[in-house]
Amino acid sequence: MNKPSRIAEAHRLDLTHRPRRNRKAEWARRLIRERVLTTDDLIWPLFLIEGEKTRTPVAAMPGVDRLSVDEAVREAERAVKLDIPAIAFFPYTEPHLKDEHGSEAYNEGNLVCRACRAIKKAFPQLGLVTDVALDPYTSHGHDGLVREHGDDLRILNDESVAALVRQALNQARAGADVVAPSDMMDGRVGAIREALDAEGFVDVQILAYAAKYASAFYGPFRDALGSKGALKGDKRTYQMDPANSDEALREVELDLDEGADMVMVKPGLPYLDIIRRVKDEFGFPTFAYQVSGEYSMIMAAAANGWIDGDKAMMESLIAFKRAGADGVLTYFAPRAAEKLKAR
Ligand code: PBG
Repeated sequence: MNKPSRIAEAHRLDLTHRPRRNRKAEWARRLIRERVLTTDDLIWPLFLIEGEKTRTPVAAMPGVDRLSVDEAVREAERAVKLDIPAIAFFPYTEPHLKDEHGSEAYNEGNLVCRACRAIKKAFPQLGLVTDVALDPYTSHGHDGLVREHGDDLRILNDESVAALVRQALNQARAGADVVAPSDMMDGRVGAIREALDAEGFVDVQILAYAAKYASAFYGPFRDALGSKGALKGDKRTYQMDPANSDEALREVELDLDEGADMVMVKPGLPYLDIIRRVKDEFGFPTFAYQVSGEYSMIMAAAANGWIDGDKAMMESLIAFKRAGADGVLTYFAPRAAEKLKAR
């Protein structure tokens, strides 16, 4: 097998380096593999909805359902069994609970808080990540508070930070282990840290959505939350311009200075260069969010038979590790974990 045929001998190039030698067999490829993906790298985002024994499919995200709290507890059990370290929550909010101030965000009985309490009680070993941003709760669909002057709609920064602090405290009281501000207001990480510490929540971590871009890839998520139709205008005055990269480093630096324990880059695959720069520059725990639109693209192409969905999923996840990410928030988490455990 290792000996070339006579014909091969005749054509043989006199090469010093044959990189293919190290790829000749699976055992050899395993030996030189630079990165590994394990279940430890996964954070699984779940959508919540009111009701009992209720699962409603998210149309643009095949395989993803909105879950009532009891169903979320069952999925939490699945996460534990699959060795997924942490799950994250995003609520679909009934339209009648939305208002201009996002008041439901501070309701200690809101969906996210109920899910936190129920899952913390059943599976205390599972990490719970909650999203700090008002968009699931506001009638205008923005992550912060707004002021409208006729056609001119402004997202207010400092007023929003005060609201986000209240929201984060509400989540910490319900048992959140990690609060994750995804709102992109200036100064919110410092304000949240101070408020958490003042209430004795010194061990609650902050995972800052530090470099979050104004992206078209959030479409299916906004559908899942019911915030799409509601959104007035766009989020470009607070989320970042996809053309920028140096600015991402400044955003990350500010969040780290203000006390972020971990930082995130979002979306994922189109922004691998940002993950690499952030990791190289700061060396902090760095996460990528493989967002809804990325999930939907892979699922849609796979459903058409245009790509192999499982392979594309695993390839996309190892790409995050290669780029320097310590972990990935991904809707593929349970499916990827199943594959990893079967290996
Ligand atoms: C908003 C938020 C968004 C996502 C997570 N938190 C959407 C947005 O900024 O409009 C997107 C996640 C996804 O697309 O999977 N606070």
